[in-house]
Amino acid sequence: MGWATSPFLFASNMKNLWYKDAVFYELYIRSFYDTNDDGHGDLKGVIAKLDYLQELGITCIWLLPMYPSPLKDDGYDISDYYNIHADYGTLDDFKRLVEEVHTRGMRIVTDLVLNHTSDQHPWFQAARSSRTNPFRDYYVWSDTDKKYSGVRLIFGDVETSNWAWDEATGQYYWHRFYTSQPDLNFDNPAVQAEMLNVVRFWLNLGVDGFRVDAPTYLFEREGTNCESLPETHAYLKRLRAVINEEFPGRVLLAESNQQPRELIEYFGNGHDEFHMAFNFPLMTRIFLAFAEGNAEPIRSVIEQTPQTGEECQWAIFLRNHDELTLEMASPAEREHMYREYAPDPKMILNLGLRRRLAPLLKGDHRRIELANALILSLPGTPVLYYGDEIGMGENLDLSDRNGVRTPMQWTDSENAGFTKAKPFAELVTGEYGHHHVNVDSQVAEPDSLFHAIRRLLFIRKDQPAFGRGDIQMLDAPSSLLAFKRKYLDVTMVCVYNLCTTSETFTLPENEQGGYINLLENEEQVVESIQLEPYSYVWMKKYGE
Ligand code: BGC
Repeated sequence: MGWATSPFLFASNMKNLWYKDAVFYELYIRSFYDTNDDGHGDLKGVIAKLDYLQELGITCIWLLPMYPSPLKDDGYDISDYYNIHADYGTLDDFKRLVEEVHTRGMRIVTDLVLNHTSDQHPWFQAARSSRTNPFRDYYVWSDTDKKYSGVRLIFGDVETSNWAWDEATGQYYWHRFYTSQPDLNFDNPAVQAEMLNVVRFWLNLGVDGFRVDAPTYLFEREGTNCESLPETHAYLKRLRAVINEEFPGRVLLAESNQQPRELIEYFGNGHDEFHMAFNFPLMTRIFLAFAEGNAEPIRSVIEQTPQTGEECQWAIFLRNHDELTLEMASPAEREHMYREYAPDPKMILNLGLRRRLAPLLKGDHRRIELANALILSLPGTPVLYYGDEIGMGENLDLSDRNGVRTPMQWTDSENAGFTKAKPFAELVTGEYGHHHVNVDSQVAEPDSLFHAIRRLLFIRKDQPAFGRGDIQMLDAPSSLLAFKRKYLDVTMVCVYNLCTTSETFTLPENEQGGYINLLENEEQVVESIQLEPYSYVWMKKYGE
């Protein structure tokens, strides 16, 4: 019997596919809310703000790394996989957070950093103590720095090589990120097993899955670019097997910044690798489309992106805690993006842009709302970045990516209501400062960005076609993006105007007729639609 014909299997499949209907919120604990007056956000602070997130319409939080770390890469350099950073609280606080999240019917995923550890991790400390130490083989060593030549440098603004010299033992070690983040040696079966134990530990504590950091780089092979190798996919399949066999219903989300063709491989055969993957190509194209006032960049990337399987889902996002990466953009696209979005050279980091959503879109409420509506209606699950729901800005005086990780602006009072102490980082000032942009005032103002996004999230919640439907592009003038989403007996039509002039969209004849306009909640007979600059419509009908 096929699953669709068995009510029991159908229901359990619907439930296990929860991530398809979810709304994710990327949360940086250090910047969220401080409850013990030390100037750093903490786990209790996340608990204190869960009601806010629920009120906004979030159903799953993704926590940036919360493990002990010397913080050379803000926690992506882990020195103990089985504990909580002292600034954030204790394992008991974490267990309470998981419980509080689940009590509210929400979910929680954490960051899983497989590729590398901190150089302060006891494994690396042992490994570098002598060439014969049993942990030596946990990392990748070489007598020469010429191996794997030609492999790209990810942190090219700071690093000059993927090899670092270890004076004490007279060999080089391999690192794809900072020198302080030595890559683990996945050719070593002990490393493979260790990391699966880490996975089991957190799943046993109740987390609903992982955002898997940098899964692209696990193995190295001479003569390749050391990315997405068959060995890497084979290990990721072992990881998925642990989920399928021991923790069904939990989710794996891949952070792999690749072209659509390589990216799709992270879904394996649809049941044996990742459930979800960030859609990096789409993210870049959304900003290109705004820059050009033309929907073509989005239309073409959607057309190039293969359909995913029943259990697979894109994670669609606008901004995150990193720079807006342009590594996969063509040189011409990159130049265009710099011209449009980096008037100040300080805004460029590595090959990307260290900027937040609101200032990127000129602080224009219409554009910001439209961008959010896009990621809520294109195929996938939206992932919002903390603070973007109120249009927070960046602080370019802070180094690296810290400028987009500043304290959450809760109120217009001292320290933005984030802490009673001196905040760990300088707040944003000027037009995006907390006197102008904060949660309190936007919650009180029905026309605020907060309410606009909240409304969209609540509309989306009742429309499974957005998370699960297939997509078909509709013919439209080049500045308009128009598509149809279809799921079971429901059809959605979404149309967006990406330019500064008013435009008309005419529905294909066979699509004309009665619709429910979801934004206005009224029934209309629609043949054509007039769209003001940066306006959009979401319409629904039953049947084809
Ligand atoms: C994370 C970065 C981090 C890097 C190394 C990424 O892709 O998103 O913030 O610096 O992995 O762990």
